[in-house]
Amino acid sequence: MRLGVNIDHVATLRNARGELHPDPLEAAKFVKKLGADSITIHLREDRRHINDNDAKKICSIKKIPVNLEISTNAKIVKIALKIKPNFICIVPENRKEITTEGGLNLKKNKIQIKKIISKFRKKNIRTSLFVNPSLDDIKISKQLGADCVEIHTGRLANLVKSNRYYLNEYKRIKKCSILANNLSIEVHAGHGLDYKTTHLLTQIKQIKEFNIGHYLIGESIFYGLKTIIKRFKKILKRK
Ligand code: PXP
Repeated sequence: MRLGVNIDHVATLRNARGELHPDPLEAAKFVKKLGADSITIHLREDRRHINDNDAKKICSIKKIPVNLEISTNAKIVKIALKIKPNFICIVPENRKEITTEGGLNLKKNKIQIKKIISKFRKKNIRTSLFVNPSLDDIKISKQLGADCVEIHTGRLANLVKSNRYYLNEYKRIKKCSILANNLSIEVHAGHGLDYKTTHLLTQIKQIKEFNIGHYLIGESIFYGLKTIIKRFKKILKRK
């Protein structure tokens, strides 16, 4: 099970000052050195954290596998095709959201997403779709030619964090992971993950990659990136 570290919030902190520090490029290199398997960055349409220059510089370091999250916005897709990250994850975007609120509406955007996936395929870029834990969405992802799905774990994370009944949501994620794996789609998980939810999801063997941002960066303020990445890596190694 691989650990993808989302470093968007290093850029959030930098942007709070409007200056250059802390530098997401340095964060990408550092996090990789500490054992992250890949780096995730989200080039949002409003550029609220990572900007074009960050994305360009981070994606140009060939030793760091970069997962670039983007919306279906034509201008952003064009930029992504130009900077050629290793991996793309297509996500929905709403202007007023604080963070990505749900999975893609695949039913509504089938044609558009299929076209985008085939553009990335031509450039040998692995493409993932950020989806809700829905069996229908997994089947549609297959029809659209996605290499991977990233299952939105935000609902599960909220239920676990607020000590509410989470088993149904967990089972939904598990069923979707099994289906995707049977359809030869690689399964990733992301959103709202902390130690407890990550640990819980490691029981689903089909999940190959975890993309973790806000909690990991938040914990690092107290204990440092080295300790926190080590801790997440240890959780992901559990059999
Ligand atoms: N995966 C995707 C597709 C996301 O949009 C995000 C949030 O940017 C994450 C993972 C990371 O979520 P979090 O910051 O809550 O760990």
